[in-house]
Amino acid sequence: MTQVPQHIAIVMDGNGRWASRRFLPRIAGHRQGVESLRRCVRAVVARNVKVLTVFAFSSENWNRPADEVSGLMDLFAMALGREVPQLKLDGIQIHFVGERTGLSAKVAAGIAQAESATASNSRLVLNICFNYGGRWDIVQAAATLAAQGKPVTEQTMSQAMALAHVADPDLVVRTGGEQRISNFLLWQSAYSEFYFSDKLWPEFDEGELDRAIESYGQRERRFGKTSGQVNPPDPSEVTSLQQD
Ligand code: IPE
Ligand code: IPE
Ligand code: MG
Repeated sequence: MTQVPQHIAIVMDGNGRWASRRFLPRIAGHRQGVESLRRCVRAVVARNVKVLTVFAFSSENWNRPADEVSGLMDLFAMALGREVPQLKLDGIQIHFVGERTGLSAKVAAGIAQAESATASNSRLVLNICFNYGGRWDIVQAAATLAAQGKPVTEQTMSQAMALAHVADPDLVVRTGGEQRISNFLLWQSAYSEFYFSDKLWPEFDEGELDRAIESYGQRERRFGKTSGQVNPPDPSEVTSLQQD
């Protein structure tokens, strides 16, 4: 049986192209992206994944045209209001990961409400990276340690990072065909496996999720060691070889 990753992180890319191919405005692609995320959350829960981290809006996405940025902010606040009651019933614990200052009062209120309503859930931790950048996270962690007068070590940094409440992602998936990290989990993906999908995010379905998990199951995670160290031969096979 394929080993299932405990923590999957996803760069949900390709909404704009999905819409353009249908001669629709880009925001229609983002709306469809919300549908895809709802389906994905259900699918990962059914596969017993424990943590799902999704990239919803990057530090760099502020550079998009103003109407797309405001459309994304409105969609985000609206989707939270609509989806949180069911996510709460489904046992999902929601966390927002990103810079919170600079967000509108409506978005900030939606975030606070979603987090408090789902805080006692434990079936799946859903981290939504919004106004997030991997460099921002590293800098804010270092600044926090400096302000507290604490030493900077890998351990104290990890504890000061925005994803300190979960283990590092086992598998990072990016949809949309691009093979780049785009300032996603720079620190936490140090030893993640990667899966790049040509599917646009609105088309990402259970079949593609299973292909990503299947691919992950075939990898040998060595963490710097040799294959022989992480995958020692079966002792019973060694004995039978010696007897021959
Ligand atoms: C990802 O889809 C969603 C966000 C960045 C908010 P895109 O909007 O980047 O879609 P493409 O890459 O233009 O197709
Ligand atoms: C990454 O996608 C950010 C999100 C999915 C939220 P982008 O579409 O912004 O990435 P680049 O700019 O093409 O690298
Ligand atoms: Mg994109």
